[in-house]
Amino acid sequence: MILPHAIQEVKDAARVEDVVGEFVALKRKGPRFLGLCPFHNEKTPSFNVSPQLGIYKCFGCGEAGDSITFLTKHEHLSYVEAIKWLGKRYNIDLPEEEQSAEQELEQSERESLAVVQTWAQQWSTDQLWNTEEGRNIALSYFRERGFTEATIKEFQLGYVPERGNQFAAAALAHGFKAELLDKAGWIKRRDDGTPWDFFAGRVTFPIHGLSGQVIGFGARTLKSDKKLPKYFNSPESLLYVKSRSLYGIFQAKKVIASTELCYLVEGYTDVISLHQAGITNVVASSGTSLTEDQVRLIKRYAPTVCILYDGDAAGMKASLRGIDLVLREGLNVKVVTFPEGEDPDSFAKSHSSSELTAHLTEKAQDFIVFKAGLLMADSGDDPVKKAGAIHEIVESVALVPDMVLRSLYIKQCSRLLEVNEQALLSEMNKVLRKQYRKKQGGRADHGKIPERGR
Ligand code: CTP
Ligand code: MN
Repeated sequence: MILPHAIQEVKDAARVEDVVGEFVALKRKGPRFLGLCPFHNEKTPSFNVSPQLGIYKCFGCGEAGDSITFLTKHEHLSYVEAIKWLGKRYNIDLPEEEQSAEQELEQSERESLAVVQTWAQQWSTDQLWNTEEGRNIALSYFRERGFTEATIKEFQLGYVPERGNQFAAAALAHGFKAELLDKAGWIKRRDDGTPWDFFAGRVTFPIHGLSGQVIGFGARTLKSDKKLPKYFNSPESLLYVKSRSLYGIFQAKKVIASTELCYLVEGYTDVISLHQAGITNVVASSGTSLTEDQVRLIKRYAPTVCILYDGDAAGMKASLRGIDLVLREGLNVKVVTFPEGEDPDSFAKSHSSSELTAHLTEKAQDFIVFKAGLLMADSGDDPVKKAGAIHEIVESVALVPDMVLRSLYIKQCSRLLEVNEQALLSEMNKVLRKQYRKKQGGRADHGKIPERGR
């Protein structure tokens, strides 16, 4: 907790024209400043900043507020993050309320891990660019994959030499404790305590938190031996919580917000290739199915997620259930599939940017429609299977929190599935009642069910 007097000090110091001016080109106009509104598209400036009042206001779209509001809306910072941003900007110490001993230890461990990961990223990037082994083996690998120098730099890719446990040696010499390096996932220790490099001979993909802090790594082998795990990943730690992170979010968040759309892919390389091809609002779940926290993270930036599947029907079906979670959170879900054997990475390589963009827009299907098509194709003419499929689709529709959207889906499904709309509606209402009952069941003081004829 930041102490209230420190918050006040920050508020007093923050000059709205400076803060807004970091992100918007402002021109002085008498007592005010004027610029193009960053919250809506405009050609003539109607975005006003008043130093006297300490506020900004757009006469085009109505957005208004003070320095802190600006940072929360434009940079998507939380209130506390905005205060900290301003504290840094104006060199104001932000003493925090006393923490318990345990909280203090946790915080200091998190900070130590952050220092290690930042250092490790710089070290591995340096190995990539400035050593013979790095250039010959790793840089040439990235180039063969079609990554440009700018891309490799933007994503801070790196390399760990194959032999000699050079990372451990350098990190220990730098003063990091072996235990900390172990917790950060960079070294393992033999029984006698001697350390070895966990990522030896691998190229590294740093995973960033929202603010750009490196929190973990994926490390890909350069060998084609199928028995080797393709990726090693950093372990969970106080700094890196997998279920709450999305690969690429730091590089993508601004465009996700401005396009109001987030593309979701599976792998590190998919994110990077799409980014290079100009699709920059893209993140990866890194091989696991989406978690609730990841969905909420996306929802902070955009109302719609578009899932890019590689052309593998089994994989698609396996993930259908997982997507119900996304519907429940009230995100709109779209789906784009790729031709058999292609993933977003390979597709981006074998097609031009405009072909890729066209594919993404033309092939985008609404998730419910996509699921209906997939399940119906599967059940063929078998009426029992067909009924089962219809039930499953209705269960998905029932998860959509918005009532209007739900009824539109029912209409659409009725056409697609050739089932009477009324039948689908009453089926859905049954599911909704069941859900309601479940919810109420969890609360001891409410036992009544709004249903007759039980
Ligand atoms: N993954 C992992 N461990 C593995 C294999 C995969 O953590 N042994 C995760 C990685 O996050 C990977 C994602 O699952 O990016 C998707 O896997 P895959 O498609 O096999 O890898 P790509 O990222 O496509 O890598 P490449 O194109 O180099 O084969
Ligand atoms: Mn791939």
